[in-house]
Order: sequence, then C-alpha cells, then structure tokens
Amino acid sequence: MRKHFFSGIQPSGRLHIGNYLGAIKQWISLQDSYEPVFGIVDYHAMTVRYDPLEMPGRVLDAAASYVAAGLDPEKSILMVQSHVPEHVELAWILNCVTPMGRLSRVPTFKEKVRQNPDNVNMGLFGYPILMAADILLYRSEIVPVGEDQVPHLEFTREVARRFNSVFGETFREPVEVLSKGARIRGLDGINKMSKSLENCLYLDDSDEVISKKISTAPTDPARKRRTDPGDPDVCNIYSYHRIFSTPEELEHCAHGCATAEIGCLDCKRILIRHVQEMVAPIRDRRADLLARPDDLIEILRLGAERARPIAQATMAEVKAKVGVAVG
Ligand code: TRP
Repeated sequence: MRKHFFSGIQPSGRLHIGNYLGAIKQWISLQDSYEPVFGIVDYHAMTVRYDPLEMPGRVLDAAASYVAAGLDPEKSILMVQSHVPEHVELAWILNCVTPMGRLSRVPTFKEKVRQNPDNVNMGLFGYPILMAADILLYRSEIVPVGEDQVPHLEFTREVARRFNSVFGETFREPVEVLSKGARIRGLDGINKMSKSLENCLYLDDSDEVISKKISTAPTDPARKRRTDPGDPDVCNIYSYHRIFSTPEELEHCAHGCATAEIGCLDCKRILIRHVQEMVAPIRDRRADLLARPDDLIEILRLGAERARPIAQATMAEVKAKVGVAVG
C-alpha cells in the first residue's frame, strides 16, 4: 500500500507558471510512489477576511486548476479540508500541548499581523496548529512545500515531539521536501513570480496574452538598441530559456545575443512558443473542468470519502492516548 502525505492548497484561484514549475510538477511526480492527500484548505483561508459567497467558487477553481495541471484525482486524494472534521478535532488537541509563546514567535504570524493589523484573530494565531494537524493526521513522513513554509514544518515537528513526550510515542516527525526551481522570477525580472505583483504568466493565459506579456518584458537593460550586444546572464528572458528551451536553442540565443546577431524579439519568439505549448493544454483542461462543476464536486466528495477513514484511524489512536475514548 502506498503511504500518504498531506500537502495543502490555498483556495486562491489562478495558478502561475511559478506554482507549476515549483510545486505542482513535484507533487505530480510523487503520485506513483505515495497516495498523497491534497487538501484545499478552506479553514486556513478563513483566517483572513473573505467573502463567504465567493468561497465555494474559489474551492472549485482551485480543484480545476490542480487537476488541469496534472494532479490525478484517482492516484491522489483531492479533498476539501472542511469535509473531514478530524482536521479541526486534532487541531484542538494539539492546541492543548502548544505554548502560546511558541506560536507568537512563528515568523508567518508576525508577518500576517503586520499585513492585517485590524484582524488579528485566534485562527491566525493558531494557523500553524491546524497545519500541523493536517500533516500529522495522515502520518506524513514528507511534506512537499515551498521554502516559505519551512517554519511551519519546524513547528509541526516540535508539536509532534511535544505530543509524544506528554502522551507517548504517536507521531513521526515529518520533513519538508522543497520544490526545485520554485524561485522563478517574475516578468519584471526583479521579484519572484507573485500574484500581487502582477508579474505572472498564468496557466490560463491565452496565447495572445502570453505573447504580449513576454514581448513587453524587460531584457538586459544595457541592450538598448538592436545592434547592441547583450549579456544573457543578466537577461531575465534568458533565465526562462534555461527552463523551457533545448540546448541548441539556448546556444543560439546566448550566442546571438552576445554578438547582436539576433534581437531580443527573435529570442522572445522562441520562448513565447514554448510557453504557449506548455500552457495551452492546461488552460483547455481547466476550462473543460469548470464547465462541469458537478463532476468537480463529485471528485471532492470522493476525495473526502477516501481521506476520512485514514483520518479516523489516527484519531482513534490519538483519542485513546489523550484519554477521551471512554467506552
Ligand atoms: N500554509 C500552506 C500555504 O499557505 C497551506 C497548507 C495548509 C499546507 N496546510 C498544509 C501545506 C499542510 C502543507 C501541508 O501554502
């Protein structure tokens, strides 16, 4: 039987190629050796202000995006966190072995307080506990995440250790598996790809939008005229070529740029074609899935149905250990 691990997906809609190359591709590669649980973490999403009317749409949108990008709902378990109540049940128990001082030192909490000073709620404070519950509930030994989640994994290991020392050996300490190449820069060439910075290529961008975004993106700033030679090593577009292009194309672009034999637009045309070829099937699958919301709902229902017995088995052991399993 394949082992499980849990990884969380924020119900926040559109995915960009940074998400795809960083996280999703790695998840997909783990689907054969594990039976991963991918949870759309709607309870986590409640820790910041949101519109309740929009939440169901956001959840379906996330499900469609990930399935379109290659998450196979038969090999993996795609579920919604709130559909499996054991997540919050375990979170409560973990609350009771976690010192408040430790939670207040989690860097992501401090950051969220800065970003939402008028909504510092208990859910935000306990966010890492719910995440630890997600992970420990499925006895995850590995957790594929981005680098920004490492403090949460450290926290999860501490919670597991504390629980074990109070109630006896129960949880193994999970380790993070960092996604490779997660740090693709945005089209601005300065920041990492991020929705809020509007520097993204999205997995549902049309061919025209892809072409326009890349055509207008900055290259080597020293290359002002077509006849100026450029330096591929400082060109953001060339850094994309390293991901998308063949060795021959890389050589063609690097040489052409350094000798001014080709212009930036020539180089960009090759990249545009590669990005369009990668995005088109994902975009079309996503649109297909969103046109059949009932099928998506059924996928999520079946996901919860498969996740629940795994979660219940862990909870039976946990409840016995903490002494709330009378009768
Ligand atoms: N905190 C994660 C994020 O913002 C989402 C998440 C929730 C998660 N629970 C998880 C990730 C458990 C990995 C494992 O991206």
